[in-house]
Amino acid sequence: MTLSIQETRFADIERIFDEKFVGKPTHVVRAPGRVNLIGDHTDYNEGYVLPVAIDREMMIAARITENSDGMIELYSKDYGEADSFPATDIQPHPNTDWTNYLRGVLKMFQNAGHSIPTFQAVLSGDVPQGAGLSSSAAFEVAVARLMNEFLNIGLTDTEIALIAQKAENEFIGVQCGIMDQFISALGEAESALMIDCRTLDFKTVPLRLSDRGYCIVITNSGVRRGLVDSAYNERRQSCHQGVKELERLLNRGELSSLRDVRLDEFIAVSSRLPVILSKRCHHVISENERVLLAVAALENDDLEDFGHLLNASHESLKTYFEVSCPEIDILVEMTQEQPGVLGSRITGGGFGGCTVTLMPQDMVDSYRREIIPVYERKTGCRADVYVCVASDGASFLKKS
Ligand code: GLA
Repeated sequence: MTLSIQETRFADIERIFDEKFVGKPTHVVRAPGRVNLIGDHTDYNEGYVLPVAIDREMMIAARITENSDGMIELYSKDYGEADSFPATDIQPHPNTDWTNYLRGVLKMFQNAGHSIPTFQAVLSGDVPQGAGLSSSAAFEVAVARLMNEFLNIGLTDTEIALIAQKAENEFIGVQCGIMDQFISALGEAESALMIDCRTLDFKTVPLRLSDRGYCIVITNSGVRRGLVDSAYNERRQSCHQGVKELERLLNRGELSSLRDVRLDEFIAVSSRLPVILSKRCHHVISENERVLLAVAALENDDLEDFGHLLNASHESLKTYFEVSCPEIDILVEMTQEQPGVLGSRITGGGFGGCTVTLMPQDMVDSYRREIIPVYERKTGCRADVYVCVASDGASFLKKS
């Protein structure tokens, strides 16, 4: 019998736990990364997004320590590094990022009045890091699920997502929206979720692509997302300013976010906005409309239309929101030109990272063999291609 990747990783993490801490973990939790099909930079504007949880995940094997010296003890399989710190005094580590995602989530539980137990844990993941597939959100959600269990406080999955996001906002210092943590906590196999980031209501949108011979392909462009945090926070700031300006120009009372502005009313006044603000707002307002149209297209099995919307989203992220980069533009353009490809776009925060493409299943091999090498020659980057399997959100593989 051959083991699935998840079973192999489970066996592996239990073995490493035994090597590092002796004995078995009582809990093993997993949380997936994500790819966003459409709706980027809309979540922090109270808008709509349509992500999928992927079959790449973070895993944590853990056990509460009795009679301990008050220390939390960690080992990261991926970095081959250990860390320990007192459960009562959780501070950011000055130069080890991986532990800060965990520390951040624990700190949020502590700030909410919970007393953090001491425990030992091994962490490992196969979500590519720095690729824009939300390895950090997956990690944060896994930690939040673990704490929820250890403290036995019965948080809902939405509350898990919110506490994980709070850690990213307040401890890591990235003002991200709710999308990544939400889909990691609540994703559903074979489906995307349309999330209303204002109300946190969501709708399951079955993908049914394989019935029609299509699949979703993620291509890691090999452009690492550097200096993203400051640019991201800056975009967010522009959107906020845009709301203030539009409030004045539209003169119809207070606007809570760009979500409250229709595209036609925006276009009527957009020339009176500073150019940069106008471009940023144009993207967000039109992207919200595209998400709603994309959901309708999937529900009507109109994959051609869905593909056009992906292409339009890329154009908008490139031209108006200016979060693409030359390498990704080359990749997207080459991919869109291939006969059979329905749509392709940059996905996630941008400034490098991944593209998402809707293509026929029987085209994946030639995409890998013929298109990717041309991209690599043109840009000098090394790309990776994954066929995305839409997976369930965070869960326990072991709880004893
Ligand atoms: C990053 C953030 C998300 C979202 C995307 C862009 O992934 O973490 O909250 O804003 O960028 O859609």
